[in-house]
Amino acid sequence: MFGLGIKIDLSLGAFQPRVETAEWVGTVINKIKRESKKQPGKTWRVLDIFAGSGFIGLAILKNISNSKVDFAEIKPQFIQQIKLNLKLNQIDPSRTNVIQSDVFENVSRRYDYVLANPPYVAQKRKFLVQDSVLENDPPSALWGGEDGLRYIRRLLRNSGKYLAAGGFLYFEFSPEQKNEIEEIARSYNFELDFFKDKNNVFRWAEAKRFS
Ligand SMILES: C[S@@+](CC[C@H](N)C(=O)[O-])C[C@H]1O[C@@H](n2cnc3c(N)ncnc32)[C@H](O)[C@@H]1O
Repeated sequence: MFGLGIKIDLSLGAFQPRVETAEWVGTVINKIKRESKKQPGKTWRVLDIFAGSGFIGLAILKNISNSKVDFAEIKPQFIQQIKLNLKLNQIDPSRTNVIQSDVFENVSRRYDYVLANPPYVAQKRKFLVQDSVLENDPPSALWGGEDGLRYIRRLLRNSGKYLAAGGFLYFEFSPEQKNEIEEIARSYNFELDFFKDKNNVFRWAEAKRFS
């Protein structure tokens, strides 16, 4: 799928992965590959949070041989979907844990990389959402409260406890949220770099703790 060398089954109703997500995940994979050359013996610990089908974590597992990936997802049926996709892609079970969790609640270790495509659609912008999205995507994958930032706030508030020293958080958002995200990040001691997608709008960020 999207040139990342993975197969994704969506038969249990998980969110359909988007090309915009595949783009930034590809960039992060290249970054981890570069880091692997500098630290050849290291096993990278990665968390795919808001995992859905497991698309992001699977892309990491398939493309970074020296990685171990945990998946966190709230919906029991998508936990099954992730397990199904791990089998479909013949991933060695010793490289993964699939955790049913409300954001970080049941997550207990630290990671070199936390990758997130959280629900970030603002309820107040529902009128802009295409009918096909409302009909086909699970509601739990879309809505991030009135301003769309409910889960991004929780990510930034709590990620510090789950990142290893020098670790990075990557997350996707909606372009009009950029300024507010910058403010939230600063209040939780994160320094952000913002990146655009193929449509030339800001779509994802790299976050690093500055204290
Ligand atoms: C936009 S989808 C992303 C799925 C996948 N990562 C991708 O990019 O294709 C967001 C996912 O977050 C899950 N989710 C929603 N609220 C959550 C919460 N509080 N804790 C963990 N996962 C949650 C949804 O069920 C959904 O599967």
